Amino acid sequence: MFNTKYTHDEIHGNDRKIVVGLDIGTSKICALVATPGDNPDELNILGLGIVESKGVARGFINNLEQTVRSIKEAVRQAEQQSGIQINEVIVGIAGDHVESETTRGIIGNLNEIEEDDVFRVIKEARSIALPPDRRILHVIPQEFIVDGQDQIIDPVGFRGHRMEVLTHVVTCKTSFLDTIYICVERAGLKVKEVVLEPIASSIAVLDEDEKEVGVALIDIGGGTTDIAIFEKGILRFTSIIAIAGKKVTDDIQNGLGILARDAEKIKKEYGCAYLPGINRDEDFMTPGIAGRAPREITKTVLCKVIQPRMEEIFELASAEIERSGLKASLGAGIVITGGSSLLHGTEDLASEIFGTQIKIGVPSRLTYGLAPEVENPIYSTAVGLVRYGLENQDENYNEHLKKVEKSNGTGRKKSLKDLFNIVQKGIDNLLLIK
Ligand SMILES: Nc1ncnc2c1ncn2[C@@H]1O[C@H](COP(=O)(O)OP(=O)(O)OP(=O)(O)O)[C@@H](O)[C@H]1O
Ligand SMILES: [Mg+2]
Repeated sequence: MFNTKYTHDEIHGNDRKIVVGLDIGTSKICALVATPGDNPDELNILGLGIVESKGVARGFINNLEQTVRSIKEAVRQAEQQSGIQINEVIVGIAGDHVESETTRGIIGNLNEIEEDDVFRVIKEARSIALPPDRRILHVIPQEFIVDGQDQIIDPVGFRGHRMEVLTHVVTCKTSFLDTIYICVERAGLKVKEVVLEPIASSIAVLDEDEKEVGVALIDIGGGTTDIAIFEKGILRFTSIIAIAGKKVTDDIQNGLGILARDAEKIKKEYGCAYLPGINRDEDFMTPGIAGRAPREITKTVLCKVIQPRMEEIFELASAEIERSGLKASLGAGIVITGGSSLLHGTEDLASEIFGTQIKIGVPSRLTYGLAPEVENPIYSTAVGLVRYGLENQDENYNEHLKKVEKSNGTGRKKSLKDLFNIVQKGIDNLLLIK
């Protein structure tokens, strides 16, 4: 058992919240246990469980039993390491069934705008016609417009007759969401919230200045490449592309005629995404299959297999950035994270393709024993899920909204000021599920 230096009192005695993020990825399933650190914005990493993922393809679960088993094992490891019993988790969702759009809500007959008016207009914005197999995952207010005055972040107190809101609405396929619930619940856990993975990753790796200046986050995992774009501190666009590092491994496997696990190993050890990035060419041996002799391959040959696929991923991401209409607003350039950002040459290739400033995003402001291990782009989503849980712990917008709906605008308890702090960070949570 991991010898943690935390006593029960140290964790619970001072009322520190413990949050568990569960990242059900295509390559790995990981459970991360954390609590707020001593300094603002710091996270104490208490436990980590990581298991190879076998029942997930391109972001969605295709083998329930395998996934349940992997979740149980990841959680068991995290519990053992942290000495904390895990009951509920914040889970990530991705896959190309996720869609997002900007919607508009309008209400009139106002005088001085009150908090309830804000909820009413947001409710309008989320009343979109959805096919029966889809549901809303997030509704993120972007700006309010009061009698034509735009770019208002918090409209409470403004005088006006008519208020509009622009919101970023993320929807997903109900069945995919249900599968997440089924797996997590079968693993004996409660789903606290489901969060879009690029939103989670952006919380872990982007800082407020980058979001203010304008930045695109690209999380290249095993099965999906997730994009989130921020401008003026607000989340403006999200998108998920169903191709990522696993395709690179497939190409190596097919191109060199080797087993998938050998292709994965070779990619990590000798792979490079950018030909001019190979300073010194080197030979290495690829294992032969079914008794065949090993073969000698050069880094250059390997790179010629990898680079076209990485180019394709970046070109697809570039097309999405173009589609967002925000390309000209990315003053802080592009931040790349996820396991595939560890591939040598990724930064240089991205720089050539996007023609802008590129940074590799790593989760930061982590403390205690496991921090160095978790400061890795592989854990961006998991760290983001935990941060999301901590930042939203007292602000369950959905519950709040239900109260407003029930009482027809009265009986609200929480402070909207705080809600807007969250909105300004671009991580509002209007979960409408379960
Ligand atoms: N050192 C490395 N060099 C190159 N590639 C790497 C390295 N480490 C991990 N990868 C690649 O990163 C990918 C896994 O990344 P990550 O753990 O972020 O994915 P995931 O979260 O499981 O999947 P997804 O988010 O797509 O569902 C794999 O394709 C793996 O080959
Ligand atoms: Mg991932």
